[in-house]
Parts: sequence; structure tokens; C-alpha cells
Amino acid sequence: MYKVLVTRRIPGPWLDLLKRETEVDIWEGRDPPPRSWILSRVKDKDGLLVTLTERVDREVIDAGVNLKVISTYSVGFDHIDVKYALSKGIRVTNTPDVLTDATADLIFGLLLAVARRIVEGDRLIRDGKWNLPWYPEFMLGKEVSHSTLGILGMGRIGRAVLRRAKGFDMNVIYYSRKPHDVDAKFVDLDTLLTESDFLVVTVDLNQETYHMLDYSKLMKMKRTAFLVNASRGPVVKEEDLVRVLSEGRIAGAALDVFEREPISPDNPLVKFPNVVLTPHLGSATRETREKMAEIAVKNLLNCLKGESPLYEVKL
Ligand code: GLV
Ligand code: GLV
Repeated sequence: MYKVLVTRRIPGPWLDLLKRETEVDIWEGRDPPPRSWILSRVKDKDGLLVTLTERVDREVIDAGVNLKVISTYSVGFDHIDVKYALSKGIRVTNTPDVLTDATADLIFGLLLAVARRIVEGDRLIRDGKWNLPWYPEFMLGKEVSHSTLGILGMGRIGRAVLRRAKGFDMNVIYYSRKPHDVDAKFVDLDTLLTESDFLVVTVDLNQETYHMLDYSKLMKMKRTAFLVNASRGPVVKEEDLVRVLSEGRIAGAALDVFEREPISPDNPLVKFPNVVLTPHLGSATRETREKMAEIAVKNLLNCLKGESPLYEVKL
């Protein structure tokens, strides 16, 4: 029987299937397993099922001398040294598609929340500070309908954001490595930055996108514009974002991802009323997380059997 290392419990019945077909060694905690646990346990394993909090670098890959497959329970694979794994004949698989709609829904939720000051309004009421009846200039936000949405990256999630934006009659522009056959205007990065009312980050994290939005880029945004990021924290240089927010150079931000997660309660971002924060919830629906479990387990089993996985990371 194949031996498999699983670094977290996953929702739904799919671990049971994996346990019937392989010998499973699983970390039962909700916290990430210690690195030493992974390094010692991976030694005799044929397959590895990880989440995005486990760094699968050369050391882990070298320790897994029998490894045939690394299946990540995520769409992102920036935590895995894919190039090195592939060079050693180890297949790498991920779980795209099934989380696209959930993530695009959250992105829209963030966008609406920050534009219409939903979280701020909720807090105001709970703090007992809603003490005047309706008046015309109370808590005015930015209109979402008919505004210009700039999408950075036009992959699966970018396209799902675009579909939603059509329902809001938004004018959509986008920038990505190459133009796509979509109903939105392809522009260069500068135009995207200078024309967007809402700038939504949907690129994945890699060497080219690391700190892609730094001070000089963020400064090109309109003072009235909002940044929305539910991709990976390090695409935005966080200290530079804090700086432009402090200087009032953009209208606000809505963030689901951060350079270091979890962020600490004294992260400067926490102080801004015009920033909406969620704790990496992009794919966090019951339905999506169960589908991700199905895909991650099937990817793993297929690779162990020498069959094609449902999704494979290729460089
Ligand atoms: C979530 O961030 C994922 O990559 O699936
Ligand atoms: C708002 O509640 C309105 O009636 O305009």
C-alpha cells in the first residue's frame, strides 16, 4: 500500500477514501505541523498532501526520497518549489476551478464592503454611535455601479470577477501578461493604475509579481480609488500600502491576504477605518472546501496509480 503524508484534516468524506486506498499519516492539529514533523515523516512517503501554510522547499523534497506526488489543497503553489520537484520527477497538483466562484464572490463582497462602508457602519452601530436620524451627507461612499474596475491578472478568478462586474454595469479594464479573449479592455499597467476606481489583484505570486504594487505604483492610483487583494499578500508591498493609506493617497483598501498571516493585532493596517480586513477567506465556503478536498485527494491517488491528475502544475 502506498504511504501518504497529510498535513491537515480536510472537510468532507474524501480523507476516508484516501484512508481506504493508502496508508495515511496525518497531522490532526488546526495549527500547521512543525517543520521537523514534516521532515521526519515525509521520508518513507509516496505522496504528500499539503496546504498553503507548509513550505515545500528543497529540503522537504530531498527528504521525501520516495515522493511521487505533491498535492496541494489550494490553487496557489507559491509555497512549493515546483521547479525542483519537477526536476526530480515528482508531480505537483493543485485545486483550481472549484474555488473560482467562491473567491470572486468574496472579492466582490470586499469591494462592496469598502466602497459602501459596510463594516464601518456596522461598527458605528455596535459602538452606540448612530445617534442622528437619516441625513443627506451621512457616511457617503463610492458608487460601485458604473465605475471603472481594473483587474490585475486575467486568469480564472479574474474572469469570474469580470462576469460579476458586468452585472454592476462596470467599465472593466485589465492588465495581464498577454491579452485574453474577454469582454474587457486590455491596457498597460500604468493605465490600469491611473484609471481604475477599484483595482482588484488576481495574479498569482511568483518572482515577477512579488511586490509588484510598491509605493511608486500605488502612488499612480487615483486618490479616490480602492485596492482589493484576495490573491497573495506579497504581491503588494504592505509597508508601502500603509504609507499611501497614511498619506491619504488612495481612498481605501480591502484585503484578504497579507505578507505574514495571521497579521498581528498591532499591524498598522488595523487602524484605518477605510480598510476592510478578512482572514484569508477566499475559498472558505463549505461547498468549495469539500470540492477542494475531492480534487486534492483524487489528484494524489491518480498520480500514485500512474494516471493523470485532474489538475497538474506545469512550468
Ligand atoms: C488559497 O489561497 C489558495 O491558494 O487556494
Ligand atoms: C432612502 O432611504 C431614501 O428613501 O431615499
